[in-house]
Amino acid sequence: MNNSRHFAIVAVLIVITTVVLYIFFSAIFALPQAASAEAAPIDIMFDVHYWMIAFLFALIMVIMLYSAVVFRREPDDDEDGPHIHGVTSLEIGWTVIPTIIVLGFGVYGTVVLNDIVAPNQGEVTIKVEGKQWGWRFEYPEEEDAVSGQLGLEVGRPVLLEMTAPDVLHSFWVSEFRVKQDLVPGRTTYLRFTPTEPGTYKVRCAEICGTGHADMRATVLVMDSADYDAWVEDIQSVPDYANMTPEERGAEWYNDPTYNCFTCHSPDGAALAGPTWQGIIGREEALADGSTVIVDADYIESSILEPNAQIVDGFQPGVMPENFAELIAETEQNILDTQGIEVDVIDDLIAFMATLE
Ligand code: CUA
Repeated sequence: MNNSRHFAIVAVLIVITTVVLYIFFSAIFALPQAASAEAAPIDIMFDVHYWMIAFLFALIMVIMLYSAVVFRREPDDDEDGPHIHGVTSLEIGWTVIPTIIVLGFGVYGTVVLNDIVAPNQGEVTIKVEGKQWGWRFEYPEEEDAVSGQLGLEVGRPVLLEMTAPDVLHSFWVSEFRVKQDLVPGRTTYLRFTPTEPGTYKVRCAEICGTGHADMRATVLVMDSADYDAWVEDIQSVPDYANMTPEERGAEWYNDPTYNCFTCHSPDGAALAGPTWQGIIGREEALADGSTVIVDADYIESSILEPNAQIVDGFQPGVMPENFAELIAETEQNILDTQGIEVDVIDDLIAFMATLE
């Protein structure tokens, strides 16, 4: 068989292998639903990479395996192979072509990234705070309304201004494709435009301690009528005077300022801190070997000085130590705006007593 026939066969095998591998990659690395305007150029980029990876793998493996099979030594052939001292044109080729391809991918990626981070017309700014272990979303354009869920209007571009008070976190919604770290001591930004109504999840994508895996929040992408109703809902401050301590306690438990729920389950599930189910009156073994009966005093001191008494099996230094400050702010704020005195810790204890 002459050389050009070998080349032709190898070329056909490379094309077939590339297509098969591309189909294989697209199936096993299938991306989730695309729900933002940014997803399209990013998904095309993934696609181009899959083609390139499939082609390079085929190029190397097909030539190698073809040579190993077709040019195999005959059983009685004891001759040396030809002595080859390099082929200059080949070496220039396999240096220059990959260099151009790598540079091309670099330019392509830069152009796409540049386009994705550019400001959009009419974007709404939302402040995001990620902390151990929960998310808090503040809407400066909606009278600073606060929510533990990220509500978005479909088709409306978003600018997130993100901060973290403690350690690195990372905002990631896989359906939007974009991701950005939250860095203590600075503000980071993320832009995207949600395009598909639905419910998604923010996941923290940066290991940030015991509760990292639980650091999630719901994202709601709504049409504009639903969005307006949702904003109105988060703006309406509850009438605390007409709520029972148990109801207020449930409110504090889910409040994104405190995020009690990320570490303390109401139903016995194991999270970063002891469950609140049946907590009142429970006998807890402490890490120092002593035991304590859980009463109001113990709960108050555990909230205000979380590291003083650690329940056996849990880690010290996990619960933030600024709850005294946060609670004082809440109580002052309610006194200022509604003229009533609430006691957040008493409310929480009343709520705990309902979790039998
Ligand atoms: Cu926050 Cu992981």
